[in-house]
Amino acid sequence: MTAITEALRRLPKVELHCHVEGTMRPSTVVELASKNEIELPTSDPTQLYRYTSLDTFLEIFWLVQSVLGDGDDWARLAYESAVDGAEHGLVYRESFFTPARHLDAGQDLGDIVAGLAEGCVAAEEATGVRIMLIADIDRAYGPGPGLEMVQRLVELRRANAPGTDRVLGIGLDSTELGVDPTDFAPAFELAGRSGLRRTSHQGEVTPPTTIRAGVDVLGCERIDHGLSLLDDPELTQRFVDERIPLTVCPNSNIRIANAYPRLELHPYARMRELGLLATLNTDDPALTDLDLTYEYRSVMDAFGYTWDDMVTIALDGVEGSWLDPTDAGALRARITADADQLASSLATG
Ligand code: HPA
Ligand code: ZN
Repeated sequence: MTAITEALRRLPKVELHCHVEGTMRPSTVVELASKNEIELPTSDPTQLYRYTSLDTFLEIFWLVQSVLGDGDDWARLAYESAVDGAEHGLVYRESFFTPARHLDAGQDLGDIVAGLAEGCVAAEEATGVRIMLIADIDRAYGPGPGLEMVQRLVELRRANAPGTDRVLGIGLDSTELGVDPTDFAPAFELAGRSGLRRTSHQGEVTPPTTIRAGVDVLGCERIDHGLSLLDDPELTQRFVDERIPLTVCPNSNIRIANAYPRLELHPYARMRELGLLATLNTDDPALTDLDLTYEYRSVMDAFGYTWDDMVTIALDGVEGSWLDPTDAGALRARITADADQLASSLATG
């Protein structure tokens, strides 16, 4: 590993757009499939990890998700996910989980959250990495199950059920084509009223009208992907003026959505030039052969960024996060201090 790659690996990093199921180690996919008697089409799941579109990706994402059978499986997933992230300098993540298919199959949201939280606690003890959770609604299941998930989450929080203090908010992911995001307004309204934070995947493969609906109708404080935002200059300016964060996943947009043939053609640099709070994230690293070190290194190379640019990107992750001001300040200080030390070691070789 070159010195700059190693420095980027060690730079403390925040991640705001990562699906815990999309971090599942291939070996864990195989082991949990066997444990839960789920038949996989291949003994090497990585053979399935090539996609031509968001929807072909989702078929595989759903298959991988389906191997999670009980709370212990979720705990193992959360633990391994955090430990693997920490290897790449992850110090804080707000991680998505999307339980629609498991709830449909009879699992209880309380068991899923308790399992995930147990894995997060163990990983925190082992590595110091802190993981908070965002419960994503799966668009493919429709607004009814989405609202039911939020109702159950609110109920669990009221009862102080194990792990619910780790769930910061809700999100919305999965297929975009042919789905009207405003159909999910009742679920988002309930979440907002109940003190849950709100974000949603919009504009990964749809026009900026969906991004506008995300902020104006669903009340989202940030937007995941938001790739088509620049097609609407007025809305773009509003995101700049109001510092509405985008959680951008440049390499995912190439490998999953097939939105651009090469990273150099991704609008990430243009987004940042315009003054958008465009954070940097991996989305589904284990399903796309990615990690945070590669994400940072490849973006640095593609757009000719300096070390200081990359530190600013890491700090923007803190600004886009849902940390309270005290914790955000402490994390910002830690990133700055470590970045200074790494920069001087780079300078002296
Ligand atoms: N988009 C929508 N849904 C998802 C994604 C994504 O990038 N990753 C996992 N679920
Ligand atoms: Zn995503």
